[in-house]
Formats: sequence, structure tokens, C-alpha cells
Amino acid sequence: MKFFADTAEIADIKELAATGLLDGVTTNPSLIMKSGRDFIEVTREICGIVDGPVSAEVVALDHAGMMAEAETLRKIADNVCIKVPMTLDGLKTCKALTSDGTMVNVTLCFSGNQALLAAKAGATFVSPFVGRHDDNGFDGMDLIRDIRLIYDNYDYRTEILVASVRHVVHVLEAARIGAEVMTAPPAVIKALVKHVLTDKGIEGFMADWAKTGQTI
Ligand code: E4P
Repeated sequence: MKFFADTAEIADIKELAATGLLDGVTTNPSLIMKSGRDFIEVTREICGIVDGPVSAEVVALDHAGMMAEAETLRKIADNVCIKVPMTLDGLKTCKALTSDGTMVNVTLCFSGNQALLAAKAGATFVSPFVGRHDDNGFDGMDLIRDIRLIYDNYDYRTEILVASVRHVVHVLEAARIGAEVMTAPPAVIKALVKHVLTDKGIEGFMADWAKTGQTI
């Protein structure tokens, strides 16, 4: 399973990249706003830190506008993945860009039918938002199961990029279902390693080792 960091914070991206566990980054207009950075500049910097796909989202809502923005964004680096919204114009843009060999992430997916459309449009990634789905009284993981089933039925190559991940159980469930990618805030990715029995075990081993008086 690939891990993407859902952030535009350079320090966090560098820290995760140094672990060797980071496969890509996703950003969106809200994350760019939070970073306080210039969109193009920060995207270029992120692309220089990670080798994998870095999603940069268009803000135009019409096809021509999206294509023009995508043209600017894809010039930033070879690993830029153009993020488009789940609209007919977004899907049309997805089709045009992927036919040309550009990576595309279709975002704001909330139904199996929407995911089906993204696959038909040739999307590299589809981003179902599990946390926002849960917030609205649905089970975000049911959505991932639906998409997995649909994609497997037709052997679609579009990768399921589980997004709007809020906690470690979302990651576990996504892995059980077989989603190819998940994107999560850095804090959630770092929390994956934590287990009370691991901490307790290390504490016990350290205490006993100290009693041996040995060094390695
Ligand atoms: C995905 O690419 C989005 O950037 C993100 O996962 C949205 O998450 P949120 O619902 O926590 O804002």
C-alpha cells in the first residue's frame, strides 16, 4: 500500500520522506491556504523532496480553465499529478490529460458511480473522502468496499486513493479492503507505529539490558 502525506507543510514532508515510507503527497486549496505559501513555489519544493506523485489541484471550474491551469502546474515537475474535481468538466479534463500521459487524481468522490466515472475517464487515482463521508452519517469504508468491487469487476486500473483519513483505523480498514493508496495527515501516519505493548516491551528490554552492564 502506498502512503501519501496530505499536507503542504515542508518540515512534515521532509521528516516523513526521511523514513523512506513516503510514496507521494496530496495537497488541496485549503492545505495551501494553511501553509501560507505560494502555490507554485511550495509545489515545486515538495516535488523536489518526494519522487512519487504530488497532487496539485486546479481551481477553475470549466474545462478550458482547468486545462490552462493544468498546463502551468504540470510544468512544475515531472511528478506533478493534476487534481481535478468530480464534475463533468473535471472528468473531461481528466480524459484529455491522461490521454496525453499526465497523471490525474479525481478528487471529492463520494459514491461508487462517481468512482466508476473517474475510471472511465482514465484517472490515475480516484480520491474517495472517507472522513467527510463518516461526518455525514455514512460509512466511509463502505464506499471504499464499493469502489474496490466495481474496479475489480471491470479490471479498471485507476488506483483507489483513500482520502480524508482521520485516524489509524481508517488506514487499517483501507489496507484490509485493498486500496492501493491512502493519504493522511502526517500525525496519522506517525501514529501508525504506536502500540502500548511495543512501548512497554522496549521499556522492559532497556531496563534488563541496563542490569547486564554490557554495551554493544
Ligand atoms: C485529499 O486529497 C484531500 O486533500 C484530503 O484528504 C481532504 O481531507 P479532509 O476531509 O480532512 O479535509
